[in-house]
Amino acid sequence: MIGSPEKLLKEALDELQRASARDEVLQIKAKYLGRKGEIASLLKELGNLTGDGKREFGESVNRAKARIEEEVEGLLSAILDKEKAEKLEEERLDVTLPGRRLQLGKRHPVTRIMDEVEDIFSGLGFDIAEGPEVELDYYNFEALNLPKDHPARDMQDTFYISEEVLLRTHTSAVQPRVMEARKPPLRIIAPGTVYRRDSDITHTPMFHQVEGFMVDRNVTFSNLKGILTLFLHRLFGEKTGIRFRPSFFPFTEPSAEVDIRCVICSGTGCRVCKGSGWLEILGAGMIHPEVFKSVKYDAEEFTGFAFGLGIERIAMLKFGIDDLRLFFENDIRFLRQF
Ligand code: PHE
Repeated sequence: MIGSPEKLLKEALDELQRASARDEVLQIKAKYLGRKGEIASLLKELGNLTGDGKREFGESVNRAKARIEEEVEGLLSAILDKEKAEKLEEERLDVTLPGRRLQLGKRHPVTRIMDEVEDIFSGLGFDIAEGPEVELDYYNFEALNLPKDHPARDMQDTFYISEEVLLRTHTSAVQPRVMEARKPPLRIIAPGTVYRRDSDITHTPMFHQVEGFMVDRNVTFSNLKGILTLFLHRLFGEKTGIRFRPSFFPFTEPSAEVDIRCVICSGTGCRVCKGSGWLEILGAGMIHPEVFKSVKYDAEEFTGFAFGLGIERIAMLKFGIDDLRLFFENDIRFLRQF
């Protein structure tokens, strides 16, 4: 008996209607349209037929085949669309969610004060100079009128690397280096890191200073007072009280220490100024003739002043930081406040 293409078509469409997954559809496709499938075996029967019967049978097998193909393709593309839609839904982005905030870095308070000091002195015509942190005993001490047996060397507990090499204890070491290399007139500031064997709540073995010096003909103590007063007024405000006290440094004569009115209590006396109403802020003086001698400047012709200030101390006063160690702990919550 010859098979019926119409019946086969109906069966195929029934099966396809029940199929939902891609694999099922593909199986049905193979079953009917495959090389050894139902359609193929119907076509084999063509050989047993002749004439109009053969033509009609052939045509109706082809119609059934085309119809099944159409249905299969339709189903497969519907399944593909559905999968795509599901995937899109799954990967849906909520574009209204807040973005991830970019964490911007902040400048360290020490860097900020350094920059501020540099800006003020650049505005007064000072150049910036630098020297090495691993320094020769010669520049740190000897050229600054501190020979090997000088008692004032004890003032600064020095990290020695060898007998002649040390970690510089102050930026004053930049003075003889610059003077050796250049001739007056000089207006220089030298910011940098210095080291002392000191470690407690108010001292760290590493800290920062800015050195300043000016050498020319006729530089006087009045120039020193004028420049430092202007500088401190810019840094702490025009109304800040300032006083100069006599002091001693081997590399300056006369020497002074400069105080400002306590920024915490305005002079009434508090814990920070230890009741005195004043805060010591820098050391200064007229450059000692012995220093000029070391760098082969004629002390009869040239005079100059020099000063040095501690950056951490100024940052603490300006920002109201009460513990020196905070500067070096790198706690991001501390740094973010500036
Ligand atoms: N070098 C001195 C110190 O570290 C400060 C200073 C610099 C004093 C220049 C006088 C002149 O204490």
